Amino acid sequence: MERRPLLAGNWKMHTTVAEAEELALAIAGTPIPADRDVMVAPPFTALAAVRRIVADSAVLLGAQNVCWEEKGAFTGEISPPMLKDLGCTLVIVGHSERRHVFGESDAMINRRATGALRHGLIPVLCIGETLAERESGQTFQVLELQLLGGLRGIPPAEAERMVIAYEPVWAIGTGKTASVDQAQEVHFFVRGLLAEMYEKNIATQIRILYGGSVNPENIDALMSQDDVDGALVGGAALKAESFRRIINYKR
Ligand code: 13P
Repeated sequence: MERRPLLAGNWKMHTTVAEAEELALAIAGTPIPADRDVMVAPPFTALAAVRRIVADSAVLLGAQNVCWEEKGAFTGEISPPMLKDLGCTLVIVGHSERRHVFGESDAMINRRATGALRHGLIPVLCIGETLAERESGQTFQVLELQLLGGLRGIPPAEAERMVIAYEPVWAIGTGKTASVDQAQEVHFFVRGLLAEMYEKNIATQIRILYGGSVNPENIDALMSQDDVDGALVGGAALKAESFRRIINYKR
């Protein structure tokens, strides 16, 4: 089965509402090749405004995190029904910044993914090793723990709808991209793990994105790899021109 590529922009903690509207307008006005999906994940504060702009386009709306609870005394959290109400169809969980800056554990990330799935949102589960972990030869072990922890208890029928994003921490915002061989090696490994956890035909359906200093110069080479099914883009997604080029990658 052909996996449909997904080019996703994670705007992180950037853009006022007016800035988000301007960026969304530029992206929504970009013709998207019919064989791929495009998603933008603005900050929560700009979701409603961006939704109005992308509603009539093919651009999918995503959020950057989600709580597992539906409602209640959870100050500072946003629930799956709230995101659905705003037109979100996808949500990033377990981003490296959530793990390393805010101390989110695999167990918490698993609850977020499970909560999202319960309400029909597609989780984009991020995993990735730090530089120290890579240099000490622990990359595969770390990724396996994050994957097992993040997917715990998620049945095959739900897992196959999910998206995995491999984002090596040392490549995020550093301008240092993993080489295409490093990316492919990890993606192949992750797909193998998914095949062990579920079955091969489920693993072949799950999209695995690469993230970490993706830009207009390296997107074509990354997308030429068999197991790279798309990109999760930070900095280069904040400029319409560069995100446009990424959307229009050529294999
Ligand atoms: P950069 O593209 O800025 O390195 O960020 C990657 C990322 O964290 C996307 O989620």
